[in-house]
Amino acid sequence: MRSHFCGTVTENLIGESVTLCGWVHRRRDHGGVIFIDLRDRSGLVQVVYDPDTVEAFEIAEQVRPEYVLRAVGRVRERPAGTVNPELSTGAIEVLGKSLEVLNSARTPPFQLDEDDVGEETRLRYRYVDLRRPEMFARIETRARVTRAMREFLDAEGFIDIETPMLTRATPEGARDYLVPSRTHPGRFFALPQSPQIFKQLLMMSGFERYYQIVRCFRDEDLRADRQPEFTQLDVETSFLDIDDIIGLMEALMRHVFDRVLGIALPHPFPRMTYDEAMARFGTDRPDLRNPLELVEVGDLVADTEFKVFAGPANDPRGRVAALRAPGAGGLARSVIDDYTRFVATYGAKGLAYIKVNQVAAGREGLQSPIVKFISDDALHGIMERTAARDGDLIFFGADSSKIVGDALGALRVKLGEDLGLVEDGWRVLWVLDFPMFEWDPRERRHAALHHPFTAPDTGDVDAIESDPAALKSRAYDMVLNGSEIGGGSVRIHRREIQQAVFRVLGIGEEEARERFGFLLDALEFGCPPHGGIAFGLDRIAMLMTGSTSIRDVIAFPKTQTANDPLTGAPGPAESRQLRELGIRLRGQGVSTG
Ligand code: AMO
Ligand code: AMP
Repeated sequence: MRSHFCGTVTENLIGESVTLCGWVHRRRDHGGVIFIDLRDRSGLVQVVYDPDTVEAFEIAEQVRPEYVLRAVGRVRERPAGTVNPELSTGAIEVLGKSLEVLNSARTPPFQLDEDDVGEETRLRYRYVDLRRPEMFARIETRARVTRAMREFLDAEGFIDIETPMLTRATPEGARDYLVPSRTHPGRFFALPQSPQIFKQLLMMSGFERYYQIVRCFRDEDLRADRQPEFTQLDVETSFLDIDDIIGLMEALMRHVFDRVLGIALPHPFPRMTYDEAMARFGTDRPDLRNPLELVEVGDLVADTEFKVFAGPANDPRGRVAALRAPGAGGLARSVIDDYTRFVATYGAKGLAYIKVNQVAAGREGLQSPIVKFISDDALHGIMERTAARDGDLIFFGADSSKIVGDALGALRVKLGEDLGLVEDGWRVLWVLDFPMFEWDPRERRHAALHHPFTAPDTGDVDAIESDPAALKSRAYDMVLNGSEIGGGSVRIHRREIQQAVFRVLGIGEEEARERFGFLLDALEFGCPPHGGIAFGLDRIAMLMTGSTSIRDVIAFPKTQTANDPLTGAPGPAESRQLRELGIRLRGQGVSTG
């Protein structure tokens, strides 16, 4: 139907006849001459119709935005002064000879170049939204990312294997999406939160190197970087130690960045322990483009009469930390109040601060309601440790380690943005040596920080159960620009270790047998040492395309409340379907039986 793509019609085709297909991006009537910007996925080209070509001109008069056309014409240079340097085709135009309307279109719900279209509308008319060149570019970049991943993994001997979507619960910490079984009334499949158990079973089957680009389902609270169904690049290997796995996986990411963006990521990636990340950044996914860091000052203020500081400073679960905001000494009181409200959303009870007017003047050079409580030595120590300079503002967090980390960690990110301190570029790192368990105060039990199949960094069963809180795991996260883009671990490959971990997690013998009996059995039939990782493909595509939401790199995403305005999913089910499934609706609730 066409000879060229619109965006490829350039100077070297001047004088030639071209046949183009596409959508009407814009139509302008200029005193007897009609200009149509014709758009296809490659770009725009200007097609001009003048009244000499009577038949085509009459059709051109009728067309409206988003009509689908087939146009034939001759390429010519644009008249001087009308060249558009923004377009690949900006130096030429096509003098239309004939025009065919392949389809008309209703007035689109929004202009493609309109900026502030509501997300609900964009998703409802996603097929129109996806016509935007920037959306095309994002989806296409995503495809290049998966292609580069496959290229690398195929070359390294990884085998692409599919695993079930209708399965049993997979423990990744979110709620399951359940699918009722018609043939087993009252029973449910769960959609996988990840293929974790299956990929481990594949190692037990001797595949040695597996990968899959796979949809995962998690019913959890959504954020800009979370979707209820999302895609992982899932990988598992056998007979590799932790350094081998990490080395291979960072080589994969170097390949992807090189192929897709022409960017060289470091070789090797920097590594940081979990403890160091929490101490310096208050988070296990630090954005290293942001130069701000948390500094411990607890030891300096342990003796102060200021209870807000002395309390946490003397509590083993407490923490007092400082965060220096360079050059922010002039911030208005109201702005500091805003930051105080901001940290309150992370549980902080206040946000003490010191304005540093003149370091050299000691106490006299500092301005703050709290300096009167703090000794000269402590003030001196704080200035030294934070490397304070005249004109800085120093914030303080004093509370449990968790609240201080969360609050100052979030403030660090916000200040970095507000003060324009975040550098450009790509800062990738591995975070390692995670705690094996975290204490869940609400459930009053230990939870797996990663998942229950992650190997502890000891093979000693007694050590696992005697002091679980002190245990580190063999897990690793890949972090890029403050986003956790991948996480994995060396797995438990011996049954007694797996059982000990289940016991610490409060999963009793019977429950373990019921939920994971098949895995426990498999561990006894010749299980090799193995480990792997899963990358968040949507997050990687989001970062690589400079998008602010993963919804922008998913062709048909869900909204923040996990519905799809396009299809109207989730929708009601017919009573016949429910009857077949043995499900009765009672009021708002659903029951089976
Ligand atoms: P994890 O739960 O860390 O590990 O998930 C791996 C990566 O998937 C991405 N991710 C998400 N992306 C979008 N929306 C979500 N709701 C979402 N949840 C997670 C993140 C994350 O780093 N089975 C293990 C992996 C393993 O041990 O091999 C797992 O699923 O980028
Ligand atoms: P107050 O003595 O409550 O008036 O607090 C004095 C200063 O300490 C104020 O700037 C508070 O915002 C700050 N502050 C109070 N509680 C905390 C806390 N837990 N961490 C950091 N600063 C705090």
